[in-house]
Amino acid sequence: MVAEIASAHAVAGGDAAGFDCLAPPLLRGWPALQAKLVHHVKRAALRQLHASRAGEILLLRLYLVGEASSEQALQHELRSAAPEGLARQIDQHLADEQLHARLFAEAIAERGGPAPETQPQRPDWFSRRKLARWQRLIRRHAPHFAHGALVPAYAIGLSAEQMASRILARHCALIGPAHALHPLLARVQADEERHVRLCSRTLQRCCVAPQERARLARLMDEVRAVERGFGVTGALGMALAGLALRLAAPRGG
Ligand SMILES: [Fe+2]
Ligand SMILES: [Fe+2]
Repeated sequence: MVAEIASAHAVAGGDAAGFDCLAPPLLRGWPALQAKLVHHVKRAALRQLHASRAGEILLLRLYLVGEASSEQALQHELRSAAPEGLARQIDQHLADEQLHARLFAEAIAERGGPAPETQPQRPDWFSRRKLARWQRLIRRHAPHFAHGALVPAYAIGLSAEQMASRILARHCALIGPAHALHPLLARVQADEERHVRLCSRTLQRCCVAPQERARLARLMDEVRAVERGFGVTGALGMALAGLALRLAAPRGG
């Protein structure tokens, strides 16, 4: 049992002494209730969106936009701040996210949605706002670490990968292994879990000095608070879109 907890903790991203802040926090009080509500609203929204083909295409499109945002962040924030020794790792990570984007684009096309774009797409308004928040956070925290912007960029990356893994796990559990989308979602989720471990290991081994750990914990708290805020907005947006598409869809559409 102890081994199981230790291994779950390692997968979640906090596998060394002094780096507990990297694992998803155990929420209490209002944030815990908020997370529970977001979980249930998102499950309900997923059911609504799967009820129509347009809804399913919208879901895949949301995943595609998420992958495009990861791609953009890796190219702009991490690649520019990384030392040469990390460049290969970041390029491999970027290649994974590009493959995810391609797989989602193909799944959209298979369902009669718009053909995959050959050019990277501009993120939507919601994602642009989130990116702007991240850039401000990176600028504010970078001067406090010897490795500068690399630390907040990886901290944000870790939180985003943990969130992606959680979202995909919820989605897989809801639709079950017999659903046509399950293999794609499960495959991407396995990659995102690997990215969680990668970001966590990089922060622990390459980026953060022992005297910087308290600052890292503060940074992670801020990152999680921003994620929670956007999580509520995202859940409500998904629920409204799901309801609108279900009402608009012809039966069986
Ligand atoms: Fe991805
Ligand atoms: Fe990822």
